[in-house]
Amino acid sequence: MTTPAQFVPVSQLARSARSEEAVAKHKKYLWPSVTNYFQQPLVADRGEMQHLWDVEGNKYLDFFGGILTVSVGHCNPKISSKVSAQINRLQHTSTLFPTEHIVALAEKIAQITPGNLQQSFFTNSGTEANEAAILLARMSTGSFDVVALRHAYSGGSALAKAVTAPQGGRHQRGDFARRESLLLSLSAALEVSRLRSGLRR
Ligand SMILES: Cc1ncc(COP(=O)(O)O)c(C=O)c1O
Repeated sequence: MTTPAQFVPVSQLARSARSEEAVAKHKKYLWPSVTNYFQQPLVADRGEMQHLWDVEGNKYLDFFGGILTVSVGHCNPKISSKVSAQINRLQHTSTLFPTEHIVALAEKIAQITPGNLQQSFFTNSGTEANEAAILLARMSTGSFDVVALRHAYSGGSALAKAVTAPQGGRHQRGDFARRESLLLSLSAALEVSRLRSGLRR
């Protein structure tokens, strides 16, 4: 039988100079749009599945499952073993050359997705996925309006921020965001017509 861990409120946890320094440097060297949760955010050091340790060595049961890569557990050996095997074998080839793995993943996705969804476009981030989704929706419908939830987070690119973003992620001065949206609609229109003419060729 395991002994239950002792519960300590966060306000009573000791903080070291190490975490104070990381938080201070985060404020100093990262853009303010990269916000942390809490006034005194914990500085994560390592993780093992559902457990996380901060730089002071405090152990947490991690309920923060909101981001997809975290919801499978920290450093899940099923994933990290494959990732480390791959980066030790072949890291980057650009998309100019196929590999067996990208083809295998695309084939698997084609097998499990419904209807006639047979082809994939892989991106590095949610931002790019949303960019691609908006571009495809605009190409398919010919309409440039996008319905989005206010204060939802769609990503860090100019288009994703113009669609919807938490206030902190947006430029506050004047009607910058609105002008940004108009410019983006214009550049998206040009992009769509470029793609359409490419498709027709
Ligand atoms: C629903 C949704 N859209 C877009 C994003 C943006 O993803 P990224 O920050 O990886 O570009 C996220 C990230 O959490 C998200 O949850």
